[in-house]
Amino acid sequence: MKYRRLGKSGLQVSEFSFGAWVTFGKQYGVDGAAELLATAYDAGVNFFDNAEGYEQGTAEQVMGDTLKKLGWSRDSYVVSTKVFWGGEKPTQKGLSRKHVFDACHAGLKRLGVDYLDLYFCHRPDLNTPIEETVRAMHDLITQGKVMYWGTSEWSAQQLTEAYGVARQHGLSPPTMEQPQYNLFVREKIESDYLPLYDLMGLGTTIWSPLASGMLTGKYNDGIPDDSRVNLPGYEWLKEMFESERGKDRLKKVKELAKVADEAGMPIHHMALLWCLENPNVSTVILGASRLSQLQDNLKALDSRKKLTPDVIAAIEKIVDNKPDGPQVFE
Ligand SMILES: NC(=O)c1ccc[n+]([C@@H]2O[C@H](COP(=O)([O-])OP(=O)(O)OC[C@H]3O[C@@H](n4cnc5c(N)ncnc54)[C@H](OP(=O)(O)O)[C@@H]3O)[C@@H](O)[C@H]2O)c1
Repeated sequence: MKYRRLGKSGLQVSEFSFGAWVTFGKQYGVDGAAELLATAYDAGVNFFDNAEGYEQGTAEQVMGDTLKKLGWSRDSYVVSTKVFWGGEKPTQKGLSRKHVFDACHAGLKRLGVDYLDLYFCHRPDLNTPIEETVRAMHDLITQGKVMYWGTSEWSAQQLTEAYGVARQHGLSPPTMEQPQYNLFVREKIESDYLPLYDLMGLGTTIWSPLASGMLTGKYNDGIPDDSRVNLPGYEWLKEMFESERGKDRLKKVKELAKVADEAGMPIHHMALLWCLENPNVSTVILGASRLSQLQDNLKALDSRKKLTPDVIAAIEKIVDNKPDGPQVFE
């Protein structure tokens, strides 16, 4: 396993990390989670991702109980959580100072840790001034409850505002952003955020590198019974897969599988390695609903040399979605 700096911060995160979404609390309790976390950790994974919104806090609880059971030294791993989707009441959601503090305290308790390494704003909150959220995050940092704060799916403009407010008032700016990034979704990482990597030293912890499993090729002949899109509560994902856009993507997956085959690796290894090719990606968060999937995905790192410039060119031709990048005037 190799490690990358989280943006321009001094924190070293493993190139592959592991996330709790869908699985922890829904499919797995402590025993299954322990197998998954231990397998990742033994392979060198040092960052584990979570959110208050994953199974209404149960994913944090399962991860916390598991970390306790595993007994790893606290200084050997990085754990995150996110604030935004807490509960139904007006004070239980969003990014107000109150909810940012409440969710942090609840997360610390459920995860059983004294501090969060990374604390993300899970989405932008249009009903809270950005300055209020920046101040709340800064205060948590000065209290020692959070090491680095960041955002998820914020626009470049919202990030720039947060950075400006922080610089103006001597507060801690966001260190990292967590956007979706995979062969089908590229705009934020490859275009919108380009000026911010240098300006802010922004790091990125990217999600859904396999487009929720579509880039494994397992949906090529229909939806398998045991896949996540059949889980109660994930009907929206099934609709996405069955939409016209989903069908178009599936066609591309079939073509990508041929490229991967010729390169001598499975398509999901190629898709994961493709994400790592981008130097602005600090870590790729893996998801897995079975131990065998995690073991398989970790093996992608052995195929690094197979992702040659020719293979990348063949991929680009199929996906045909490379963002233009910011406009330059001569
Ligand atoms: N910030 C955000 O808004 C946000 C949003 C989403 C995710 N995340 C984070 O990113 C993490 C990863 O996202 P993700 O779970 O969507 O990642 P993903 O890699 O795109 O999808 C993972 C899913 O794909 C399937 N899969 C993975 N490896 C496989 C393999 N080798 N063979 C067959 N199927 C395989 C499994 O689903 P099946 O159950 O179908 O087998 C697995 O649960 C999450 O856990 C979470 O921490 C963040």
